[in-house]
Amino acid sequence: MTVLIKGGAVVNADRTFNADVLCSDGRIVDIGEGLDAPGGATVVDAGGQYVMPGGIDPHTHMQLPFMGTVASEDFESGTAAALAGGTTMIIDFAIPNPQQNVMDAFNEWRGWAQKAVADYSFHVAITWWDESVHEDMGTLVRECGVNSFKHFMAYKGAIMADDEILVNSFSRALELGAIPTVHAENGELVFRLQNALAETGMTGPEAHPLSRPPECEGEAANRAIRIAEVLKVPLYIVHNSCIQSLEAITRARNEGQRVFGEVLAGHLLIDDSIYRHPDFEVAAAHVMSPPFRSKEHQDALWRGLQAGNLQTTATDHCCFCADQKAMGKDDFRKIPNGTGGVENRMEVLWHHGVGTGRLTMNEFVAVTSTNAAKIFNIYPRKGSISVGADADIVVWDPEATKTISTKTDHQKVDYNIFEGMQIKGCASHTISRGKVCWADGKLDVERGVGNYVNRPPYAGYYSALKIQAERARPVPVER
Ligand code: URP
Ligand code: ZN
Ligand code: ZN
Repeated sequence: MTVLIKGGAVVNADRTFNADVLCSDGRIVDIGEGLDAPGGATVVDAGGQYVMPGGIDPHTHMQLPFMGTVASEDFESGTAAALAGGTTMIIDFAIPNPQQNVMDAFNEWRGWAQKAVADYSFHVAITWWDESVHEDMGTLVRECGVNSFKHFMAYKGAIMADDEILVNSFSRALELGAIPTVHAENGELVFRLQNALAETGMTGPEAHPLSRPPECEGEAANRAIRIAEVLKVPLYIVHNSCIQSLEAITRARNEGQRVFGEVLAGHLLIDDSIYRHPDFEVAAAHVMSPPFRSKEHQDALWRGLQAGNLQTTATDHCCFCADQKAMGKDDFRKIPNGTGGVENRMEVLWHHGVGTGRLTMNEFVAVTSTNAAKIFNIYPRKGSISVGADADIVVWDPEATKTISTKTDHQKVDYNIFEGMQIKGCASHTISRGKVCWADGKLDVERGVGNYVNRPPYAGYYSALKIQAERARPVPVER
């Protein structure tokens, strides 16, 4: 299959230049001005548009079994919705139940993802510890293309990782050249606050943000950072929602520590007043953890992104429909936590980021694609328009306008957290592994063509860390 993208401006994270892009057999094979279309090639007219690396959403949960139900979006519908919004790869999570064999869980998730229509990969969660988990982490890194492990510091009584698990798993990740990642919230405090609120009779969604204050997030972020500092391992903190965790990351980075931070499109744009909406369905549709925060936190997160202290943007796409959210009608603790957005991340970030002057186009590419590819070690195969890279490309029309709505989106969920938002700039064409999958407002996808993307262990960070550890070794004193 050959596709020629003609007449656009290529926007990479480092520069912008006018060029045509030729794709063949799933790869970019030529970039230059005035390229001719080989016989039989599909030509995409990109005049007046930008040609950018397809988005990478490094945090999704398709068909996640969670809080007594299963997320409504599956790997087929979810990757299709992603393509409609210009995202060509997701990194999802395999999450073993405590005591479940880690390889069994990983293989189960691999099976579910067979129907994906775009590329995907998996972080693997460490939810318990014994010798088999230690062994399986080795197998995953050496044989299964996994280079990142996730730790939930919240969700007590379910998948929460305590300090012992964090220390064991972070140490093992260091040995293997993998990166630990954390959901940073103090699960013990959240549990206590949830129960205290329920006991006072606060049972509605308005109690959700009160049970998960920013301090709980800041404490956990700082604890994970300090554990990583002592063990000399890099760290990636998912869905930072507040000033407290951003400050912990910024401080650590200023001290020279390799800590990376992700921010969700929702946390940049939606505020916590929504939890006081009189309609339970609307308020519950926004219940996710950490919760949406007030405007001052949103402003700080934008600044964190601009300053480079937050490097990636994600969605934590984890959809539950109204009937599922209703499980918590009388008790906010039972509302399944999660919201969608995989289809909208790129357009809301463009509109509110590039459209407001907060981000340059090149910074937009960095935070929606390139930085995730670099941190998770798949760059320049992903996250770059360059010869030899996978032909995962979005053609971006900066003049197109639309109103986001669940009536027109492709996500398998009955509520869109960006409902009614008017945006300017969106994907006119999405090309996945060299095939045009989204054009003229229509999807053309094939079940199961998405590929699992192997992510090799790191070399760079770890050799630097080994040199540092070696130098820090105490020198015996001669007597
Ligand atoms: O509320 C959320 N974020 N649900 C998905 C699981 C997680 O914590 O990432
Ligand atoms: Zn989380
Ligand atoms: Zn998540």
